[in-house]
Amino acid sequence: GGSNNYIDNLPVVVDDQWAMDRRNVIVDYETKLGSGAFCNVHKGKIKGPAAVRVVSQNLIAVQKFTDCEIAVKVLPAFADDIARSDFMQEINFMKSLNYHPHLVSMLGYVPDGRNPLLIVEYCAQGDLLHFVRQHRAIIEHGYENGAGLKILSLVSFAWQISAGLEYLNSVGCIHRDVAARNVLLDADQTCKIADFGLCRLTDNLLYTARGGRLPIRWMALESLKSFEYSFKSDTWAYGVLLWELTSLGQVPYSNVENHLIMEFLEAGNRLEKPVHCPKEIYELMECCWRADPLQRPSFTDICEFLRKVLENAA
Ligand code: ADE
Repeated sequence: GGSNNYIDNLPVVVDDQWAMDRRNVIVDYETKLGSGAFCNVHKGKIKGPAAVRVVSQNLIAVQKFTDCEIAVKVLPAFADDIARSDFMQEINFMKSLNYHPHLVSMLGYVPDGRNPLLIVEYCAQGDLLHFVRQHRAIIEHGYENGAGLKILSLVSFAWQISAGLEYLNSVGCIHRDVAARNVLLDADQTCKIADFGLCRLTDNLLYTARGGRLPIRWMALESLKSFEYSFKSDTWAYGVLLWELTSLGQVPYSNVENHLIMEFLEAGNRLEKPVHCPKEIYELMECCWRADPLQRPSFTDICEFLRKVLENAA
């Protein structure tokens, strides 16, 4: 991305309780968990008497750990100034957030100038896209607990993700890269929204950005047409995420080429209902893909809707 209109209006943290000593952070460079244009995410460990923020029952406590699994985002030495400033802004943004059960939380960071590290909680079950693909057979054939229950666990994932996004939007953040690949599952199979690299704070309800690597197939019509982003363009992308979940990990619009997607949507076409998708969930997707952003539901609306679906199914 560029360097304008970034997350630079955040309060500066003076007493930096997040800073960690590099000697306590062991990065396993052999184990890559993910990668972006610049950064790689590696598995790692906290060694020795490092203080790590842990959460139990929604209370944050600082505890001392000897061997705590972590994920470490590493900025390589060759990164340019923009990537470097993006990285620091991501750290500052994460510092400003309160703990939320459905966001990947920061445990700390190593501030050293050239090779900063961002340390976040380790999500042992990987990303949601791979997860639904791996469980495709189980869900389709109704092994284990039966098909109904399995679809219900997808609805529960959907609710958790909407709760995380409701929180992000409530602090003025547009995520801009909502997709199944950016949701992680921890050891308890709790959904955690990750990758705040593209997210932006906005006072206005609209943010305009240009360029970069664009997640075309997750983008709202107005983002494709005029690079306009709002809480409601996150809603659109969330609709596509629901489609990824209920199609068990298919690629959206797999029969439409990138450069034809805008035209396809403008003609009024949308993704079709996946075979295993409950009717009410598909109706929710359709609301997320309304051409007029103002007509799309907010994450508060979506959370409430899904809570009722789960309640009625129980
Ligand atoms: N891939 C990217 N971030 C991760 C994390 N925090 N845990 C596990 N895998 C990841």
